[in-house]
Amino acid sequence: MKWPEKVTLQEVGPRDGLQNEKKMISTEDKIQWINQLSLSGLQYIEISSFVHPKWIPTLADALEVAKRIHRIQGVTYAALVPNQKGLARALEANIDEAAIFMSASETHNQKNINKSIEDTFPVLRNVVKDSLSAGKTVRGYVSTVFGCPYEGRVDIDSIIRISDSLFNMGIRELSLGDTIGVATPKQVQELLEVMLKRFPAESLAMHFHDTYGTALVNILTSLQMGITIFDSAVGGLGGCPYAPGASGNVATDDLVNMLEGMDVTTGIDQDRLFKAARYIQEKIGRVLPSHLLQAKMAKGG
Ligand code: HMG
Ligand code: MG
Repeated sequence: MKWPEKVTLQEVGPRDGLQNEKKMISTEDKIQWINQLSLSGLQYIEISSFVHPKWIPTLADALEVAKRIHRIQGVTYAALVPNQKGLARALEANIDEAAIFMSASETHNQKNINKSIEDTFPVLRNVVKDSLSAGKTVRGYVSTVFGCPYEGRVDIDSIIRISDSLFNMGIRELSLGDTIGVATPKQVQELLEVMLKRFPAESLAMHFHDTYGTALVNILTSLQMGITIFDSAVGGLGGCPYAPGASGNVATDDLVNMLEGMDVTTGIDQDRLFKAARYIQEKIGRVLPSHLLQAKMAKGG
């Protein structure tokens, strides 16, 4: 088997993780946690979301979080941005990168951002244009690529059409989201075979949720096909409130443990990552899905 020697992990816990929690984590605790993550060697952290606070109440303090975290040189601090209104707040917060998002399936797109796929394009086109004019880079997400909670299997043509549109707008990287964690290695292979004929591997990231325990095997499959960028969330936090049945992202701690064990460099300090996972587990007040975290806790960590 062959895989790359080095990968980049993009931490989405403070955004994808906290957006799905019922418990409100205080702004101060979020800041402490993000500061810990910044010191763990992660090069990319999605710190929050400039969506409507009524839709995602737990991230209503995005502006304050962005302003008060201690930023480390070499780390990109990104945030989710759905529209111009969100971008105005994101620019005020001086985020490094705007992450735009839409779904490959019509119903999830509608439920998640209250628009049809067709009506989403002009909104995002303006967000990308204005982000680039403001000197910010843009990353795109396509959600529900391996399955939609409302429509089931998703047509590959829809994924390609949306990916083409987002790259044409000017995004630098596209993250393919298994929003409800249903993908299998066979599906990953089938999608990547098509995508890699169209887009370079360096411009694609994979975003696996682990609802059915297949996230790590899906990552292994992606690695073998040349993908080197993966989204993950410390402790295995995560999920989309507008995707019933979605559970946590693949745990950053489990992923780093697997990759380093395969001699794939992540640049992440496992002890510091563990402390950050333990910290947020304590603040959330429930046992998080990360296998590594639970194994270490059982050994008195
Ligand atoms: P809408 O209600 O259609 O918005 O929501 P609107 O444009 O009709 O405006 C209605 C009101 O909201 C107006 O205020 C706007 O100013 C205000 P009013 O005039 O009535 O006083 N408004 C805003 N306020 C603050 N920030 C904003 C904003 N936009 C409008 N950005 C909207 C549309 C997109 C805002 C809403 O649907 C929304 O916030 N959705 C976000 C849902 C979300 O965050 N979902 C989870 C993230 S996606 C995900 O998890 C998947 C991912 O992880 C990848 C994967 O797993 O596959 C990325
Ligand atoms: Mg997600």
